[in-house]
Amino acid sequence: MKRYLVTGGAGFIGSNFVLHLLRGEGCARVANVDALTYAGNLDNLRSVEGDPRYAFYQEDIRSAEAMARVIERERPDYVVNFAAESHVDRSIEDPSIFESTNVGGTVNLLNVCRLAWEGTDGGYGEHRYLQVSTDEVYGTLSLDEPDAFFGEKTPLSPHSPYSASKAAADVFVGAYGDTFGMPVLITRCSNNYGPYQFPEKLIPLMIHNAVRHEPLPVYGDGLNVRDWLYVEDHCKAIDLVLRKGRVGEVYNVGGHNERANIDIVKTIIRLVSERLKDPAINDGLITFVEDRKGHDRRYGIDAGKIAAELGWRPETPFEAGIEKTIDWYLKHAEWVERVTSGAYQAYYEQMYGHRGAAGA
Ligand code: NAD
Ligand code: TYD
Repeated sequence: MKRYLVTGGAGFIGSNFVLHLLRGEGCARVANVDALTYAGNLDNLRSVEGDPRYAFYQEDIRSAEAMARVIERERPDYVVNFAAESHVDRSIEDPSIFESTNVGGTVNLLNVCRLAWEGTDGGYGEHRYLQVSTDEVYGTLSLDEPDAFFGEKTPLSPHSPYSASKAAADVFVGAYGDTFGMPVLITRCSNNYGPYQFPEKLIPLMIHNAVRHEPLPVYGDGLNVRDWLYVEDHCKAIDLVLRKGRVGEVYNVGGHNERANIDIVKTIIRLVSERLKDPAINDGLITFVEDRKGHDRRYGIDAGKIAAELGWRPETPFEAGIEKTIDWYLKHAEWVERVTSGAYQAYYEQMYGHRGAAGA
């Protein structure tokens, strides 16, 4: 029975991970540290608020004092770092917060863990630090070579400020393993989708806009390819790597499910239109807009290592996962309303002087 400290646990994947842990039997404690930026939402965790195994701390991973205090109090076996600024478009508008949170926050967390853990049983005992990273650190693949994939040894070649900050953080994590012998692990996952994803990312934004008969903005020619994984499958992979992965290793996690953006958008239109019996939700809503700067053409993951070493495979077929996701968003209109109004709008306006895509 392990004690976990999860950072960014009020965000999309982090909250799914906290819920996943508390549904199972294997965890004694989950402490969730989240600064509650526009992307963090405690509504995601209402169902576990009374659970004696769960505690929430509103803290910033960049604060050494706060993180040391939480770690001293919670004495986690495992630290899982989800906390990050995660949206590529926002990183293009304002890169600095990405450097500050994603790089500075990670280095701070590594320092605090090192201080707390070093010397346990003459080393680091059974402690583990897992960095939740992304396939975007590898850069881009070409549409002309569909059999090429990102492997763990593919050189890091990030293009956006977001992926650059995640790559920099990964390099620090590796360095703390090499230099200080810290028990670090890195997972690099492809694009996730599922409940509680903020409607600024492709899938929830398209559902949100389709329901409202608003334009569906497709960047460039719509042929950019992403490898989509249902969030629950990612959560299972992370816990497996924590428990059984080899310390010091990187594990790629992916869905074997590459799709062009335009196909994703058309699938969403069809399914939302069917469910709402609304013929006004149709391909006519698709609006091709200016391409994203530095837009990576294709991501594709080779998840052979985690399959061979740990037996992990994606369990949710895309057709089932996208239906579950759409049904969840249609059923949780209030959640969507809350996150796309209040905190998010205020934060976005404060940072950029205009409203974000979801509230435009
Ligand atoms: P998200 O934006 O939904 O959530 C991020 C969370 O971190 C929010 O709850 C936010 O409040 C919190 N946070 C931000 N800055 C913080 C700070 N300084 N201190 C404490 N908390 C802070 O992101 P997500 O999509 O859930 O992604 C989680 C992690 O997984 C990120 O590290 C991301 O890079 C990685 N990842 C995401 C995907 C994806 O498809 N979403 C894929 C692979 C990897
Ligand atoms: P996104 O969900 O932002 O994830 P990432 O950029 O991290 O892969 O975008 C997924 C793909 O969808 C990406 O190729 C950009 C594209 N996209 C659009 O075409 N329109 C949109 O409004 C958004 C948000 C994304």
